[in-house]
Formats: sequence, structure tokens, C-alpha cells
Amino acid sequence: MTTPTTDLALDDIRLGDPALWLRPDREGMFAKLRAERPVSFHEERDFPGVPKGPGFWAVTRYADVVRASMDAESFVSGHGVSIPDQTPELNEFFGSMINMDAPRHTKLRKLVSAGFTPRTIRQVEESVRAQARRIVDAVAPKGACDFVEEVAAALPLRIICDMMGIPEMDHRRIFELTNIILGVGDPEYASSREELMAAAVELFQYGQALAEARRTRPRDDITTALIQAEVDGERLTSQELGSFFILLVVAGNETTRNAISHGMRALTDFPAERARWMADFERIAPTAVEEIVRWATPVIHFRRTATRDLELGGQAIRAGDKVVLWYNSANRDEAFWRDPYRFDVTRTPNDHVGFGAGGPHFCLGANLARREIKVMFDELLHRLPDIHVTGVPGVHASALICGYRWTAGRSRRVLSTEYPFERNARRTAILYGPTCDVRALHPCDALSAGTARVLSWLAARPFRPSHSRCRMWHGRADARGARSLRAPGVRP
Ligand code: HEM
Repeated sequence: MTTPTTDLALDDIRLGDPALWLRPDREGMFAKLRAERPVSFHEERDFPGVPKGPGFWAVTRYADVVRASMDAESFVSGHGVSIPDQTPELNEFFGSMINMDAPRHTKLRKLVSAGFTPRTIRQVEESVRAQARRIVDAVAPKGACDFVEEVAAALPLRIICDMMGIPEMDHRRIFELTNIILGVGDPEYASSREELMAAAVELFQYGQALAEARRTRPRDDITTALIQAEVDGERLTSQELGSFFILLVVAGNETTRNAISHGMRALTDFPAERARWMADFERIAPTAVEEIVRWATPVIHFRRTATRDLELGGQAIRAGDKVVLWYNSANRDEAFWRDPYRFDVTRTPNDHVGFGAGGPHFCLGANLARREIKVMFDELLHRLPDIHVTGVPGVHASALICGYRWTAGRSRRVLSTEYPFERNARRTAILYGPTCDVRALHPCDALSAGTARVLSWLAARPFRPSHSRCRMWHGRADARGARSLRAPGVRP
């Protein structure tokens, strides 16, 4: 396949401009940058109420992205991995360990790894199969569906929620909150920074309340493992737990959803590759899954900050400069990949940077995501063999997340799929136990010192979190004084 092109002149490729992310020649722009200005400087976009940042370097070649990612002393994450600057409090509040450096990152990563032991992951794997079957059961009789919402988004959401022990009645609200957090910048999903802050605070408090519930009544879930984990005599604080909860539900949801959506599109666009995979599904699955993640590159970029004056890709960088690693571009770099624009389900080797380009922050959930993608396509392609994308999907207007739009209660159909009912709707009976109702003290009754600190900090800022939802929760005390974590609107 030939390298894509763009009509834009080099100086007109402004990666900080939100309008650019809706252009159809995204691949062409990055090909041009890699070829002609592999490390280029860009102005930052305006965010209402936030001072404009100083701009950033865009690193577009595979070798340079890997070099910066591996050198975590010269390129740190502690100033934040998204382009706009935040205060240290907000960085930690939103991003937990993804926005930290050693030694704090090392300690936190060791602690949370207790929740990702082979035993806990094995348990989750069983639930991946059951949930994937359940999703196909639900859509099979319909003959057509909005793939993003009903299939691709449904699986990671249920898995991450099951892992943490979140009851099913709260799944929808968690879904909405993660959409708001990662949808910032796309007016269709998040209209304001206030909404973003309110969503994050709600998730934070939910995570803390869930942990509180597990302290009194431990269960066999990752939330319990996290509160019991101990490294060098230290445990996760309540604040660390709340922030890790935000990171986990956001990182575990949006990314895998987009990998599955792009995978479905690729398998529609390249029927020969689909046929090759179907001819020997189990054997080809490991390489097909890696290729789906390379092809999709659901996380488009993460930022680092230079700690010293240095040179990268022939460009001088000063200490304190923002350095943005464009994973999407590295995953198409002609200098590294043979035929990068070919979707090849048997590509070997496939050292893509979709889960990060190496170093201490490499994706903690990579194995879980691989499993989810494999099992979802196993169920879909075997039970709905004619499934294919029918609509032209709208692209999510974001420089961070490479995703398709989803309906999420709106009327527009987005990544629609069809599979004639007669051939595809062989339903299998699946048994799954009832999910239990988590009850805990209302988060606002017992604000931890950490939460209180964050809230008071936020209160002094122009974008104040809305507490309307907390008030609604307040009204729901049950007879024993315990209050439901149930979010409004989920159940009448
Ligand atoms: C296809 C799906 C996924 C993709 C493409 C993806 C991508 C990434 C990327 C690019 C990073 C940053 C790596 C770096 O800075 O070096 C990351 C980190 C992370 N991911 Fe994923 N991810 C996926 C699924 C998941 C899932 C399912 C979970 C959780 C269950 C998860 C949890 C995390 C966490 C906690 C981190 C931070 C690790 C750290 O800072 O030490 N991810 N992921």
C-alpha cells in the first residue's frame, strides 16, 4: 500500500489545533512530519479558563518515541502525560501513577500489581468469556446494532467493573463518567471543564466508598486486594485508591473499546485478512490481536517533560520542554515497519507501541486487553459470521483517544453493524450468577482528608465541581442508615 499524503504545507500541520483531528488526511500529515520534520514544535490549543501553555515538541518517529519512553530519567511523567499543564494536585488526582515518576511510581505500581496477580487475572479471564457471550446473546436477535455502544464499549466496561466489584446497576453511570473524562475536547461528549471535574470527583468518591465497603466486608475482588496490599510496610492511602480507581476505569474502558471497534472496521475493510484469521482462529489470534492494537493505536499520544537539555531526532530540546510521543505515528513509521499501512493478521514481529513504548509506565492492563479483544472476536466471528460494518463511522474529535463516536443516548447511529438474523442468531444459553448490591456509607459522609484537600483546592478554581449528584445520593439512605452507591438515573 502507498504512503498516505496531505495537501497541507508542513507549517500548516498544527497538532495543537482541534480542527485538525477531524480531517481525513491524518495519516498523511504524520507521514509528512516523519519524513520532513520528525521532531516539530506546535502551539497548544486554548482551554477556556486555563492559561495557554508554552507549546510542545511532537516526536513522530518510532526510534525517537521508544528512546524517550525508555529514558524515564530524562523524560519524566510527573508533570503530567496530557499536553495541558495541571497543578501537581490535579495531576495526581486524575492520573494517579501514570502521572508519577520513581520512586513514588515504583512503590505505587508494586502496590497495585497486587491486584493484577496471575490468580486475579485468571478469575477475570473467566468473566471475559461469560460477558462476551452475554453481549453477543443480547445483540444477535436484533440483526443490526450500534457496535460501539452495544458491543465494543460493553465488554471492557463490564470487565473492569466486575474486577473492581462494582455492582451491575452502577455500570451505566461509570460508563457515562469515563466518557465525559476522555471526551473532553469533543463538545458532543463534554461541554465544559466543570463537567469534567464533576465526573472525576464522582468517580474518585465512588472508588473510595467502594474501598471503604471492602474494608468492613472483604470480597474476592481487586478492590479488596488493593486495600490489603502492603509493600515495605506501606499501604495505599484512601486518596491513592480514589485516584487509582479513576485511572483504572478510564484506562480500562476507553482504550479496549476503541481497539475492538477499529478491529471490527478493519475486519470489514480487509475481508481476505478476516478469512485468513477464521481459517485458523486459535493459532492466528495472538498476532491478529497485536495487529488490531497497532492498527487502532487507541491512545494517540502521551506527553513527557524533559529534565535536561538534550537532543532528540536531531532537534535540540531544553530542560522543562514538553515532549509528546505520538504512538499513532510510531506505529506507521515506514523506517521501522514493513508495509505499515497493510492490516496483516499474521504480522511477525509486531513490536508496536500501542501499549506504550517501553519503560516503567508500560500498560498495566495489556494482557487483560489482549484477552478481551481475542475473546470478543472469537464470540463475534464464530456466532455472527456475517457481521460487518455498514455505516460510515464518525471520528471522535480528540488528539488523545482514537475512537469512533457512539450514540450514548443520542439519536445518530455511528459504527453500525449488520448480520442477517437467520444465519447468525444461533443463541447459546449462558448461566451467570446475580451480581450483588454493594452498599456502603455515602462518600460525602466521611470525606477523607485527601478528598477534602482536593475538593477545597478545586473550590478555589474557576471550574468548580458540581455536587448535585452527591446530594441526590444523600437522599437515598436505607433503613439501616447505609446509603446506596447507586447513581441517579440508573434505577428509578
Ligand atoms: C487496547 C487497550 C489498551 C491500550 C491501547 C492501552 C494503552 C496504554 C498506554 C499507551 C499506556 C501508557 C504507557 C506509557 O506511558 O509508557 C497505558 C498505561 C496504563 N494502562 Fe493501558 N491500555 C489498554 C488497556 C488497559 C486496561 C484494560 C487497563 C486496566 C485494566 C489498563 C491500565 C493501565 C494503567 C493502570 C496504566 C498506567 C501504568 C503506569 O503508569 O505504570 N490499560 N496503557
